[in-house]
Amino acid sequence: MPDDWTELYRPKSLKDVVGNPKAVKELKEWGVSWESGIPFKRAVVLLGPPGVGKTSSAIALANDMSWGLVEMNASEHRDGESIRQIAGRASISDTFTSEGEFLSTKEGRKKLIIMDEADNIFGKDDYGGVPALSEIVSKTKQPLVLIVNDFYALSRKSSVIKEKTLQIRFNKIQTATVKVVLRRVSADQQLSVSDRVLELLANNSNGDLRAAIHDLQAIGMGNPEIKEEQALMLDNRLSAKSNYDLMAEIFHGTNPLRAKNTMRDMQEDPGHNLLWIEENLPHAYHEPEDLKRGFDLLARSDIFLGRVSKRQYFRFWAYASDLMSFGVCAIKTRPYNDYVRYQFPMYLMKMSRNKANRLVRSSVSLKLGTSCHTSMKQATHDILPYFKWLYQKNKDFRLATTEELHLEQEEAAFLLDSKVDSSAVKHLIQDLSKKRSGESDEHDLIPVKLEALPQAPKVERSNEETKQKSLFEY
Ligand SMILES: Nc1ncnc2c1ncn2[C@@H]1O[C@H](COP(=O)(O)OP(=O)(O)O)[C@@H](O)[C@H]1O
Ligand SMILES: [Mg+2]
Repeated sequence: MPDDWTELYRPKSLKDVVGNPKAVKELKEWGVSWESGIPFKRAVVLLGPPGVGKTSSAIALANDMSWGLVEMNASEHRDGESIRQIAGRASISDTFTSEGEFLSTKEGRKKLIIMDEADNIFGKDDYGGVPALSEIVSKTKQPLVLIVNDFYALSRKSSVIKEKTLQIRFNKIQTATVKVVLRRVSADQQLSVSDRVLELLANNSNGDLRAAIHDLQAIGMGNPEIKEEQALMLDNRLSAKSNYDLMAEIFHGTNPLRAKNTMRDMQEDPGHNLLWIEENLPHAYHEPEDLKRGFDLLARSDIFLGRVSKRQYFRFWAYASDLMSFGVCAIKTRPYNDYVRYQFPMYLMKMSRNKANRLVRSSVSLKLGTSCHTSMKQATHDILPYFKWLYQKNKDFRLATTEELHLEQEEAAFLLDSKVDSSAVKHLIQDLSKKRSGESDEHDLIPVKLEALPQAPKVERSNEETKQKSLFEY
């Protein structure tokens, strides 16, 4: 059984595809029309946003019709040569099964050729993919499905494709429908989830069923009783869109300077960005050399961040930031154009989950106690009340201690007697980043000679959940 719930619950038959009834019906009719010979439109184009069942419907059609399947992903094979190799061969030969067995034409099972992410063929660089595809679209003896997000890019490049294909549009899945699917999945996984949580997840998905199931798995796996905070945490994740933009600039962009500027404009702390880049690097880059160099740069950034924390020397922040943004963007040996669904860092997700069960007060006291060489208990009684008073009254004190004690947002909110997303906390975050950029700006452009870096002490990552660490230490 697949681990990935989106795979596990992929519909096997068109009957199981939820939403988009008109599209599903049209697809079915087109499939059935192949039973009485080659139809006028030999190819269909399924178009629409991600996660609404385009690929699943194509596969389900093949199942329902008992057709074989030839799948190709156009992001990997987008030149004319490989399109002819794979789709072309499958589309002319109707006498072999996909296993290579000989069959007479009459007996020969049909094969559905699915070309996923076909937009990629119509990108800026044209490697002869468009003519090859146009030819196959008009001549194929086997049913062909092209899957695209943006049909207009495709049809502008080829009038043949526009005229000779049947275009079927899939729309976003309605929130109520997403909720129904999520409830079914939860029941099957024996999760206890409140209606409110399902609603939050469904609303967040913005009509993307894959994303919704994915989110449910992210908070539900190994956690049979999902709490509302956990769903709310995903809410924050989606509103933090800039993280996704940054990933796109770094991994898919070709302009390292833009990647660097995007990261600077986000005003996130570099430890946070490092976690994001680290989580997504292996999904985005495929060449071993690129992965190696990418992780090498991240390791170096991590060393700098460790030194910031140890020595309170904030200039290293700029080095770390440049290595992970400019650096990781610049080292790729080829452009990557395939679609990647960027992931929220697992580490942060785990932290937030644990944090929900932890008393913020004790974590603040622990930090105070450690810093003042006294016990947590004593810190709670003797120091915390005064500390809190000062923290609320004096801005300089607040900024300095937030950094020194590596206080996290929840802890700062606790000390300010306000909510995590209150304006008081937002101001604090703004002031902190202003303070930091003031400290690191002038050194922004100093080049770093990678090979000449001295050996740094090992930066240890501890997963101890009892010990609260700040992101700045990563
Ligand atoms: N309409 C749908 N009905 C049932 N499941 C769906 C539907 N759309 C998406 N899913 C779920 O999301 C996953 C990804 O869907 P997929 O067909 O690959 O979307 P798309 O090709 O439109 O991006 C499926 O494996 C399934 O779990
Ligand atoms: Mg798809």
